[in-house]
Amino acid sequence: MTWLLTGGAGYIGAHVAHALRAAGEDVVALDDLSSGVPERLPEGVPLVRASVLDTDAVRAAFREHGVTGVVHLAAKKAVGESVAEPLLYWRENVGGLESLLRVVDEEGVRDVLFSSSAAVYGTPDSDVIVEDGPTAPINPYGETKLVGEWMLRDLATARGTRWTSLRYFNVAGAGSPQLGDTAVANLIPMVFRALDRGEAPKVFGDDYPTPDGSCVRDYIHVADLADAHVVAAQRLRDGGPSAVYNVARGEGASVKEVLAVVREVTGLDVEPEIAPRRPGDPARLVASPAAIERDLGWRAQHDLRAMVASAWEAWTAAR
Ligand code: WQD
Repeated sequence: MTWLLTGGAGYIGAHVAHALRAAGEDVVALDDLSSGVPERLPEGVPLVRASVLDTDAVRAAFREHGVTGVVHLAAKKAVGESVAEPLLYWRENVGGLESLLRVVDEEGVRDVLFSSSAAVYGTPDSDVIVEDGPTAPINPYGETKLVGEWMLRDLATARGTRWTSLRYFNVAGAGSPQLGDTAVANLIPMVFRALDRGEAPKVFGDDYPTPDGSCVRDYIHVADLADAHVVAAQRLRDGGPSAVYNVARGEGASVKEVLAVVREVTGLDVEPEIAPRRPGDPARLVASPAAIERDLGWRAQHDLRAMVASAWEAWTAAR
């Protein structure tokens, strides 16, 4: 069994590559290096430098490496950018998946593990989000992830493809200091960058209907997320049914609570500046991981402090 891991040189992709190899799985990474870093890949994982949009290159990779399963992470994932550049997101995320699935179909590959997102839920009004709840994305990024799930469902109906969609919640931390998140696009690295610059970290609104007024999210350690990919991929390979899973801890943390942990871990003064709300931010996004725990026996092992501490170690190591 050889897994083609698209986006394998990315922050999350590299953690998945390491976890698959540690579990004894054969992996080949395919990455266009638009944001990936080849040095993140573990020994024994060849890198095919190509975009999933290059169908011929994808087909050649399938044949050269005897690909028998796909773990698809390659995508654009910045919500704000997706609003400004929707066609880029439709091309890369939906066009890229269509190109990849065309080869999956032609080469008779049966198992596809898909990186989806909490963004498919939009701004749900439920306290805890479950997979069969309403999906109503509010930005092009979330729409492309939901459409990706539909494409996989339709291919499965037509060809018997087995697929699993993992809906990531808020990913943070680092499995090792070399694998930190170098894209400063989410709360924790954005706070670190402010601290490095001697600036006050920003809280985007503290007038939300939450206990301390700041937004609540379900943070998940990237190492736990990578482990979820291993168990999901192995279950597909062993003939498991198609499924959709939230990958989350089922526990919310507010922006202010995250800042308090950053203060504990770094020992720095983290007095924030209260900034205006960010458009499109739901007050609370917390998921139930009951389905993935029940079906795959997976449960997050790391808490918020472990995420912040490992992220800070990687951040300071990269200085
Ligand atoms: C978290 C909270 C901000 C920075 C995003 C994507 C989602 C998924 C997870 C891929 C929010 C607040 C942030 C700052 C702040 N990605 N914040 N000050 O928006 O919950 O989710 O990542 O699948 O699709 O949308 O993550 O880290 O941007 O923000 O107050 O300097 O922190 O308002 O409430 P988000 P985030």
